[in-house]
Amino acid sequence: MKRIVINGANGYVASNFIKRLLALGYQVVALVRAGDSETSEQKMHNSLARLTNNAPEKYENLQVCDYSLLDPQFGLSPAELSDIFGGDIDYFHFAASLKYDEKSREEIFTTNIDGLKNSLDAFQKYTGDDSRFFFISTVYSCGKTSAVFEERFYDNEDISAFRNYYEQSKRFAENEVRKRIENDGLKAHVLRLSQVVGEHRTGVVKTDYGIFDFAKRIQNLAVRYPNCTIRLNVNPNATQNLIPIDLVVSYLMRMVEMEEVPLIINLAAERSTTNEHIINKLNEMLPVNLKPIRKLEQSEMSAIERVISVGMSFTGAYIDTNLSFDTTCKQQVMTSNGLEINEQSVSDMLEYFIESMDVPNKVKHHSGA
Ligand SMILES: NC(=O)c1ccc[n+]([C@@H]2O[C@H](COP(=O)([O-])OP(=O)(O)OC[C@H]3O[C@@H](n4cnc5c(N)ncnc54)[C@H](OP(=O)(O)O)[C@@H]3O)[C@@H](O)[C@H]2O)c1
Repeated sequence: MKRIVINGANGYVASNFIKRLLALGYQVVALVRAGDSETSEQKMHNSLARLTNNAPEKYENLQVCDYSLLDPQFGLSPAELSDIFGGDIDYFHFAASLKYDEKSREEIFTTNIDGLKNSLDAFQKYTGDDSRFFFISTVYSCGKTSAVFEERFYDNEDISAFRNYYEQSKRFAENEVRKRIENDGLKAHVLRLSQVVGEHRTGVVKTDYGIFDFAKRIQNLAVRYPNCTIRLNVNPNATQNLIPIDLVVSYLMRMVEMEEVPLIINLAAERSTTNEHIINKLNEMLPVNLKPIRKLEQSEMSAIERVISVGMSFTGAYIDTNLSFDTTCKQQVMTSNGLEINEQSVSDMLEYFIESMDVPNKVKHHSGA
């Protein structure tokens, strides 16, 4: 079985993927930066333990390596790099900064572009001819477009074409991969994810990104100000493109199994979820009355509404979007195996997430009428 090398390995998506690879008997090399008080090994094992609710597991096929993404050749010796990249491997570059704000611009660009270049350099220098480089990108590298986002490369654009620096950095990074393919004949593929949520099968959620970050903020306010009405600057008919983590893992497994992989794949859901559904579900579960309003000026907001509006600075960029992603390549090579998101699975995930948060009096008590 071929060896799979993964950076950013302790992250949400990568650790779910690694758990599956190990269960199927693959040899996995996990690149993880050590923390201030944790070794890279501890970080990786803690991430895996979170996914299994701390059930003890042995990972005999897992090798964890410390590395420095931002240093040339990852700050490792040639012998260490040959050990990691030697032979024919599938290499998945997951590491990224998911920040988006202006003041983090440098961190976002350094991590998402310079880090990727270091990764490409190390891969190209040390790996075998049949190895493949998979770059994990995002469908939101589409920027502020109203056209269908196709499974092809797009040129770099100014920040005004994007919602935030994260989107722009991922577009730039894709074009670094493109350059290496065109100039050096690199065997590479770009996999663009949409918003990754919990498990479709079980409703289990182990991320607080995107809609769960929003749910967490609403829950905190609902506990502090029970039964309050909060108007939100949200278009109820706009949509979120959500993909369950178990579906993402099954797509990634397909990449490993397939010999011929398309150059770029938009791993986006075929059906999007309306904001209205998410808001209705939160209204049902929490002692709060959320009212989506299309245009709510800052000056008309109550103090609570202003708090929510500031906290939604990221989610807020995506509350009026109805983006369309071409998924022709995705559909040519894989099926969703019954794991495609639907309203019921979104509801199950929101329920799991709210229930698992350690906040008292969180569930709405109906009057019984
Ligand atoms: N989650 C989504 O909805 C989503 C959607 C579209 C695309 N994606 C893409 O999928 C990939 C994984 O996302 P995720 O949600 O799993 O993110 P995540 O949980 O935040 O994981 C990010 C990983 O990158 C590592 N990393 C960040 N900065 C680093 C640095 N300077 N040096 C070394 N490692 C660094 C993190 O390590 P530390 O733990 O040490 O910080 C972590 O392992 C990313 O490329 C992301 O852009 C995710």
